[in-house]
Amino acid sequence: MTARPPARRRAVVRGAAGVVVAALAAGCGAIPGSVTSVADVAFDRELAVPPLAQSEVVDGVRTFTLEARTGTSELLPGVSTTTWGFDGAYLGPTLRAERGERVAVEVTNGLHEATSVHWHGMHLPAAMDGGPHQEIEPGGTWHPTWEIDQPGATLWYHPHPHGETEEHVYRGLAGMFILDDDATRAADLPSEYGVDDIPVVVQDKVLDDAGQLLLKDDGGEPGTLGSTVLTNGVAGAYQEVTTERVRLRLLNGSTARTYQLGFEDRAFELVATDGGLLDAPVTLDDVRLAPGERAEIVVAIQPGETTRLHSFEADLGGVAAGFAMGGNDAFDVLELRAADDLVPSPEPAWTPSSSAEDDALDPDDATVTRTFELDERRINGELMDSGRIDEVVTVGDTEVWQVRNTIPMPHSFHVHDVQFRILTIDGQAPPPELTGSKDTVYLEPRRTYRLLMRFEDHADARVPYMYHCHMLLHEDEGMMGQLLVLVPGSDVTPGPLRGGAVDQLDGHHDH
Ligand code: C2O
Ligand code: CU
Ligand code: CU
Repeated sequence: MTARPPARRRAVVRGAAGVVVAALAAGCGAIPGSVTSVADVAFDRELAVPPLAQSEVVDGVRTFTLEARTGTSELLPGVSTTTWGFDGAYLGPTLRAERGERVAVEVTNGLHEATSVHWHGMHLPAAMDGGPHQEIEPGGTWHPTWEIDQPGATLWYHPHPHGETEEHVYRGLAGMFILDDDATRAADLPSEYGVDDIPVVVQDKVLDDAGQLLLKDDGGEPGTLGSTVLTNGVAGAYQEVTTERVRLRLLNGSTARTYQLGFEDRAFELVATDGGLLDAPVTLDDVRLAPGERAEIVVAIQPGETTRLHSFEADLGGVAAGFAMGGNDAFDVLELRAADDLVPSPEPAWTPSSSAEDDALDPDDATVTRTFELDERRINGELMDSGRIDEVVTVGDTEVWQVRNTIPMPHSFHVHDVQFRILTIDGQAPPPELTGSKDTVYLEPRRTYRLLMRFEDHADARVPYMYHCHMLLHEDEGMMGQLLVLVPGSDVTPGPLRGGAVDQLDGHHDH
């Protein structure tokens, strides 16, 4: 069985690497490789809050539609850039659903190439997951449906086509998927969407002289790092704040860059991570977000004042030449402008719900331990092969995954279908911001992360879930594995598939 070679990314616009370096160096201070701040960007464009997606309840199923298409956007003021988006030119609407609800999405591919839409962070059947085994041909429509069965959280959706994920996300295909439940509703948190509860998708770009998106192809690690930072597709955005506190649902929707987000002049409360509410709010000065990670923060603001969400020099934790991987870069990200009179907001607080107890994972339940070692591109020595199953899990099992990045390069680890808890990092309890529910974690080099997860249901002998590095260049180049969840006593074992690629088994063309 030969591996299907990782498809090489098609150029968005391929420029000489030197052009990019020159662009990055322009306006840069003394530190080599540093992108420095975007203080020269005027923060005078209103933040574009993605609209809430319309839905219709048909036979008890909340049904959305989404279409991937191409368009033009003003990422920079007065500059027209070709971009991709869902139902629009860039990013997509925010889908929103309730725990216990059944949802369906009619996803149409209006692009000229195959894509897919993956529901990142969602617990759902593998056939509905939207990974490389559920690609949608141009002009085609895919109809996933599933029941929302997890706590309220800020999830997101993005393409996941084989070897092309970096490019599709970079061009603009991504959106948020917010889940609600009684516990998140009962918490004292700002929750008026677009008013004091604001989605903030942070992404960095390289624009060429013609204002077009450029993906570097110079072997730079961990991928393309841009000096233009967008929030919801706008560089230099501000948000008017009319309440004493505002909740920002931060998503690192970048392909490679890790941010260290906070404010120069105040702390904030971290209230939720990838999979939902923390046990209690945590006061922080900044929070590190690798690509794919989310954080819900609540920030207090005084009448009439202005402050900026900033990305500090990211702590990449023992990465060699961190300055070349974004470790010395600092940016302003979003300006908050408070009105002269602010509506009172409650202080973030909640009491653990009964459902939180049901959802809780118990390390004593773990019956299986797996080990994952990541080097430059391989996981346990292997590149992704759709004709090979890497891991087989028995449905219902609670497992510990022991994950280690063995080289001094940035990586992260993301597992489909589940939310996990970080038990320990090098044997120590994780810092407070990593104690909650997570589906993606930045892997500091040469440290061992023990992750606790449970594969509750959704066994499927033919369709695997994926786990991978969420630095999208790495993922596209094969830093990914396939996981089957099976009913007890199944005879599928890890290794090459008899029929060849999973694609031939899972019937992904008959959707
Ligand atoms: Cu957000 Cu498999 O990805
Ligand atoms: Cu995912
Ligand atoms: Cu990686």
